[in-house]
Amino acid sequence: MSTQYELSAADIESFRVNGFLECGFSFDDAEVEFLRELADDEFHRDSPARVLEKDGHTVRGVHGSHLVNDGFARLVRSLRTLRPAMAVLGGEVYVHQFKINAKRAMVGDVWPWHQDFIFWHHGDGMREARAINVAVLLDEATDINGPLLVLPGSHRIGMLDIDKRHSDDVWETHLSADLDYAIDAPLLSTLTADRDIVPIKGAAGKVFLFDPLLVHGSGANMSPIDRRIVLITYNRTDNVLEEVAEPRPEFLAARDCTPLVLLDNESEGGFAPARVC
Ligand code: SIN
Ligand code: MN
Repeated sequence: MSTQYELSAADIESFRVNGFLECGFSFDDAEVEFLRELADDEFHRDSPARVLEKDGHTVRGVHGSHLVNDGFARLVRSLRTLRPAMAVLGGEVYVHQFKINAKRAMVGDVWPWHQDFIFWHHGDGMREARAINVAVLLDEATDINGPLLVLPGSHRIGMLDIDKRHSDDVWETHLSADLDYAIDAPLLSTLTADRDIVPIKGAAGKVFLFDPLLVHGSGANMSPIDRRIVLITYNRTDNVLEEVAEPRPEFLAARDCTPLVLLDNESEGGFAPARVC
């Protein structure tokens, strides 16, 4: 197995301290173009895994594409996504959740401040926060197109004590701009008293990691430029979900915890099928 795309000890330490990390490697332009084409296919495929913006027609995001799309199935096994996840989590992993958020120009709505783990713990029965998010930017993320915003170090507080905002168990409310377990203004003031708000910016193709307890959110996209992002959540295979009364669909909270195996052809260049032969 190649040693490509390995995190350094300093990278892992920085991730532990800050709760997020900009990886020193990226997907190249051709790979980003390939991923954008795959994402477009997914945005156009009518499916319950697709969530719309409030306007009722713009796609906000699509889930579980790695289960139905060969290119995304390869992406979640690629050295640039799976390897850092395994390095940080220190063991075998599977994909708990996969989504592509579209954050379309002029329409893409906010993601209120939240921690991911609180949803997975209460909603899906994930016992511990032994999971990680790997983000791949499909567009350049800038100050003005609704970049992901994070509070560095906030993951070290642990899971915040927040009451559920909706009494129903309709999973769509977890994916809308009207998010359950959103952090309110007084709590945000407390959290930011000694922490900055940092935007995750970078060129298309950049790879970021962030902790499931890291407080994050994003503003509306007021710009004329899309801010598409792939978010892959890997969970350790020994942190499998407990039974819950109303499990969410497999495309939102996987119960198949078969360990993922790294693609071994990436050193030949890229994960796209067209490049393999
Ligand atoms: C999320 O928190 O899951 C999505 C945030 C974003 O796409 O800006
Ligand atoms: Mn989130």
